[in-house]
Amino acid sequence: MAIGFIGTGRMGSMLVRALLGADRPIDEDVWASNRSPEKLEDLSFRYQRLRTGENRELARECRTLFLCVRPADTAEALEEVRAELTPEHLLVTITNVVELERLAAAVPCRTAKVIPSFAQFVRRGVSLLMPGPRATAEDLARLHDLLERVSRVYEISESQSRAATNVVSCGPGFLARFCAGWAEAAHDMQPDIPMGDWEFLVWETVRATAELPRAGIAGKEILEEVSTPGGMTYEGLQAMDEVLPAMWAEVMRRTAERERILRAEIEL
Ligand SMILES: NC(=O)c1ccc[n+]([C@@H]2O[C@H](COP(=O)([O-])OP(=O)(O)OC[C@H]3O[C@@H](n4cnc5c(N)ncnc54)[C@H](OP(=O)(O)O)[C@@H]3O)[C@@H](O)[C@H]2O)c1
Repeated sequence: MAIGFIGTGRMGSMLVRALLGADRPIDEDVWASNRSPEKLEDLSFRYQRLRTGENRELARECRTLFLCVRPADTAEALEEVRAELTPEHLLVTITNVVELERLAAAVPCRTAKVIPSFAQFVRRGVSLLMPGPRATAEDLARLHDLLERVSRVYEISESQSRAATNVVSCGPGFLARFCAGWAEAAHDMQPDIPMGDWEFLVWETVRATAELPRAGIAGKEILEEVSTPGGMTYEGLQAMDEVLPAMWAEVMRRTAERERILRAEIEL
């Protein structure tokens, strides 16, 4: 049962590369298509076993199809494959903008949603998995098996997806911005240490802190260990407490609002 990826932009190509390079390689044929040929040529040059074709050909050859195009391109991509889709197909959307009920109403096949993360580039992080209308337990088990090769898999319902996506999928971006601001503030305070060094110091600290749970120290315990009441870390944390809750609430509010706007703009 071949697997196809329609759209090999950032996410589609990342998923193809992660899966084809996984420690537990997939036995099935992997196919990919893309609107413009360049990205596809680059991928098939790197991975000789990758098969490429037009969208319709992918739908004929693959029973599991990942739709990795932007929301605004979804209707057109669906139009190109719709005639080939049957109840034997499992169509997987990777965006929260495309609601599963709407997708299922537009196609005759089974549906699911997977929200990947750029962290899968290094075969880490979390993939969110959501069943759609007509998806079977076998479909979910199969997606689980596939995604576990490149990530931890967390199953949720679609109504939980915005908040979860803000953590696992937007997470690398949010963290990168947070760390960039941190390095810039340190550089402003001490410009005689080069910016590149500040970036190294910040990211090495992030990496080490992310490893602490392996030693049984996580969350609040880290705060207890590093923050002596009345000390400087304590003071810095007080400053963060004054702004971060409002910032995170705004991040959640704005992403949800943007999702609503984009959902209203698409027609399937
Ligand atoms: N980026 C992330 O971190 C992330 C995380 C989770 C989910 N997502 C979701 O993933 C989806 C794709 O995002 P992205 O960042 O990968 O976008 P992207 O880099 O723009 O990639 C989209 C790709 O789809 C191709 N495409 C468009 N219409 C097509 C069609 N009819 N048939 C075949 N290919 C077509 C485009 O081809 P061209 O080369 O012609 O442009 C492009 O390569 C979005 O819905 C996004 O919400 C993204």
